Amino acid sequence: MSVAKPLPHDAAHLHVTGAARYVDDTPVPQNALHLAFGTSPVAAGRLNGMDLDAVRHAPGVIAVLTADDLPFDNDVSPSNHDEPLLATDRVHYVGQPLFVVAATSHLAARKAARLGDIDITPTEAILSIGAALAQNSRFEDGPRIYGRGDVKAALSGAPNSLSGQLHIGGQEHFYLEGQAALALPQEDGDMVVMSSTQHPTEIQHKVAEAIGKPMHAVRVETRRMGGGFGGKESQGNALAVSCAVLARHTGRPCCMRYDRDDDMIITGKRHDFRIDYNVGFDAKGVIRGIDFTHYARCGWAQDLSLPVADRAMLHADNAYFLPAVCITSHRLKTNTQSATAFRGFGGPQGMLGIERVMDHIAAHLGLDPLAVRRANYYTTNGAVQSTPYGQAVEDFILTDMTDALIKSSDYHARRKAVAAWNADNPLLKKGIALTAVKFGISFTLTHLNQAGALVHVYQDGSIHLNHGGTEMGQGLFQKVAQVAAARFGVDVAQIKITATDTGKVPNTSATAASSGSDLNGMAVQAACNTIRERMVELLAQHHQCDSAGVTFSNGQVTVAGETYTFAEVAQMAYLARISLSATGFYKTPKLDWDRIKGQGRPFFYFAYGAAVTEVVIDTLTGENRILRADILHDAGASLNPALDIGQIEGGYVQGAGWLTTEELMWDDDGNLRTHAPSTYKIPACPDRPDIFNVALWQNENREDTVYRSKAVGEPPLMLGISAYAALCDAVQACGSSYGDLQTPATAEAVLAAVTRARGEG
Ligand code: MTE
Ligand code: MOS
Repeated sequence: MSVAKPLPHDAAHLHVTGAARYVDDTPVPQNALHLAFGTSPVAAGRLNGMDLDAVRHAPGVIAVLTADDLPFDNDVSPSNHDEPLLATDRVHYVGQPLFVVAATSHLAARKAARLGDIDITPTEAILSIGAALAQNSRFEDGPRIYGRGDVKAALSGAPNSLSGQLHIGGQEHFYLEGQAALALPQEDGDMVVMSSTQHPTEIQHKVAEAIGKPMHAVRVETRRMGGGFGGKESQGNALAVSCAVLARHTGRPCCMRYDRDDDMIITGKRHDFRIDYNVGFDAKGVIRGIDFTHYARCGWAQDLSLPVADRAMLHADNAYFLPAVCITSHRLKTNTQSATAFRGFGGPQGMLGIERVMDHIAAHLGLDPLAVRRANYYTTNGAVQSTPYGQAVEDFILTDMTDALIKSSDYHARRKAVAAWNADNPLLKKGIALTAVKFGISFTLTHLNQAGALVHVYQDGSIHLNHGGTEMGQGLFQKVAQVAAARFGVDVAQIKITATDTGKVPNTSATAASSGSDLNGMAVQAACNTIRERMVELLAQHHQCDSAGVTFSNGQVTVAGETYTFAEVAQMAYLARISLSATGFYKTPKLDWDRIKGQGRPFFYFAYGAAVTEVVIDTLTGENRILRADILHDAGASLNPALDIGQIEGGYVQGAGWLTTEELMWDDDGNLRTHAPSTYKIPACPDRPDIFNVALWQNENREDTVYRSKAVGEPPLMLGISAYAALCDAVQACGSSYGDLQTPATAEAVLAAVTRARGEG
């Protein structure tokens, strides 16, 4: 059967030869225009006026539009209608689009966009979490609070208590293909848009509003992205809408792509957080009660910040039972880029809070942090425990996974070896840590958990596959093709994977929340089953036999001792005038979530993983390296182990990058100073662990998902937390005080923590 096979990515040969087509590779007619934004040089202020004469007269410029020139809606928000495409009377961050230029070349548009004479009266910019709190600048009336039990009593009754504060940095998506869109005007005002987006339906919706047409007049196509990582859930709207508006205005095709620096300056990133905690615990480190306060820096527009901050709250427990808990979440509005979705969607920040607490407790009690973690794990024997939001944790497999990983990574012996090594080495110190991940799968906005598919079988037996998910390198298309191939018993080569298209499957959700294969795999399976049942009925009738006797495998269909090729059956169905095309639909069952109360079942199931990381730090410079990582990850009954292992490796490295080298810096005027790879350090090939062992936990999903697989896109990012915990461990080896390592654990941060651990801070 084609599922569970470690097939390569369907486009791997195109990726590595450079033949894969991205939006910007689409051949465009000669008269196509290229777009660029003129942006705000000021973080906050009143926009008094713009003299754009020099822009209009610059070489190659065909059109220049401001907010006043927009024909219909001036909004690109995915949520709250608070995100004008072009600024009106106020500016909200450095980099905010003010006007859009259409010129005959990409370079001409970018050059002209710099020539605007912008009159802004600056007002006080709110840049930091502290400033936003002081001015009560936020997105909801007050903080959101989830929890259970009497936390005050639990804290005061506990034998030990600690409090602390953790600063968590944001993260730039750094998708290799930057944001890009292309609009092709059609007859009668219709529009075709190609967009590098995780959410074609949202692009269709915003473009339709912006050109004053119903959604049926706009068709959006996405063949693939060169990475999205959440950064293309909402951040592509501005480009696609601009292209459509200018295509309507000029009657010419319009395309737009951001230069890397513009991309980093204009678009939103992962939310940076501050997390404050008070925790009460016993002599073994078992938590009696805990109080978390989350402060999320959301930037200037609401965007996806509310569900991101919710998901952070929903992962404040991670793998641990918290008997009494209160989580307070402040969603702060600042004059910075609109923070947005990023792999994990707030989960990583929430999880880091509790992992930090585990290390703090262990340092305080002088215990192995792993012993403290295990002492707090959800139990697997006796009564089923529930999360702070009341979802039963029915399949807590982390105890068994941890045992297996301890064994395969030789954790205990290596921990002893690290201690011995540290005793002999005054300048370099090693650290080792095992951390685990429990990540909730489903959109917390329940209605998004639906998907559609469209499958055609042609007379020659070849199959055309389409669904609402988008391909961003994660391998979704191949996995879903494997599902279709399995249903028809044919080779995946017989399946044509086609571009996501709002004209084929309507009203789709973003490919996000790791649910792409869960949702679209099921929808495709349903469509295939419909066609298959029609074929079965035909054959059963023809052979006067029971339909149970018809089987599909190895490209053949067998019935009553007779064998046909799949193509022959397709031909027979066609001649019998039976439809060989079907749609499929799926909605996730069992969900029941009240986000206001913070109670219910937001997730269909949990995905699990665990990682052991070993690091070394230089105590003179703070420089550090990951020496080895061992990962055991739960992808259920994997649809494709090769692709899943790729997701795990990539997720781990991206998570470790977030917590170590990737540092975003804004100056006091709100300028992002790290807006290129020269100043913003993502992990590169030599930064991956020298020894990198990744294995899949052999385990079927207990819930009825597609072939009992589990979502795998986001959870492994949080395995990168083990790199941070290992650095904390190395820091603790430097002295007896608590090092309190902050993130990102850059060389500077490690050095500061070493100083504190030595009691010199
Ligand atoms: N893997 C690659 N190569 N590129 C990406 O952009 N995005 C991640 C993850 N893995 C991403 C990736 C994110 S943020 C999500 S939500 C999932 O893939 C989305 O795809 P899925 O639902 O099919 O797993
Ligand atoms: Mo992923 S952050 O849900 O796009």
